[in-house]
Amino acid sequence: MAQHKEIDPARIPRHVAIVMDGNGRWAECRHQPRLFGHRAGVESVQEVVTVAADLGIQVLTLYAFSSENWKRPQAEVGGLMSLLKTFLVRELDRMLQNNVRLSCIGDLLRLPADVQETLEQSIKATAANNGLILNLALSYGGRAEITQAVQRIGRLCQAGELRPDDIDEEVIADHLYSAGLPDPDLLIRTGGEARLSNFLLWQSSYAEILFSKVMWPDFRREAFVDAILDFQRRERRFGKTGAQLRTG
Ligand code: IPE
Ligand code: IPE
Ligand code: MG
Repeated sequence: MAQHKEIDPARIPRHVAIVMDGNGRWAECRHQPRLFGHRAGVESVQEVVTVAADLGIQVLTLYAFSSENWKRPQAEVGGLMSLLKTFLVRELDRMLQNNVRLSCIGDLLRLPADVQETLEQSIKATAANNGLILNLALSYGGRAEITQAVQRIGRLCQAGELRPDDIDEEVIADHLYSAGLPDPDLLIRTGGEARLSNFLLWQSSYAEILFSKVMWPDFRREAFVDAILDFQRRERRFGKTGAQLRTG
């Protein structure tokens, strides 16, 4: 395992979530079409996945396509979908070699049928792996996720299987797309914008947030390691005082 010398192996975030933003601007700076930036971004995905697996991070959630991104020009949406499919096909062997388990969150039924099929195959093929969980947020929106959870919980109540008073935070979490995954400890957004853009609204309530000016295609091993080091310098208080934490 290629551990980075300064990283404290005892304080590795369990779950890192990334808003991979800045591909389009990165390409525009180079007088190239936006898809050129998305293609370069795939290289960053490969590198960050490898580092995350090496560091022993349990879950890496990558925001690859939001529910709002369907509003982009059709050619860009189509290009992103075909990039996604190529990525999945090309990366399957590497995922198997590196013990990576693929999972996804989002309104997957909106994805083109061939993409859904490829996703399903890769999820099945990697289901027995117990290393890094690579969790792709696809056609994902935090509000849509909470809405569908409320609908499902409402149906349980209507069927008499659940009492409204028994709805607690755990019940809600169990009906999100992310059921079973730990909450993100570290949420990174590249590309210089300081907003969540509908990402993991429920799950990020106590995530450490890092906004990086680096455009996603330039976000490689070093930038990712720096983000982990930044996380390790923070004190997570969860409402308590610093003194309480230090005295245990
Ligand atoms: C993020 O990069 C990738 C996706 C949203 C799919 P953008 O395409 O949003 O890049 P910018 O923000 O326009 O630079
Ligand atoms: C967020 O980026 C979605 C992904 C990275 C997949 P956007 O570029 O779509 O976000 P906004 O629209 O600028 O907030
Ligand atoms: Mg963007």
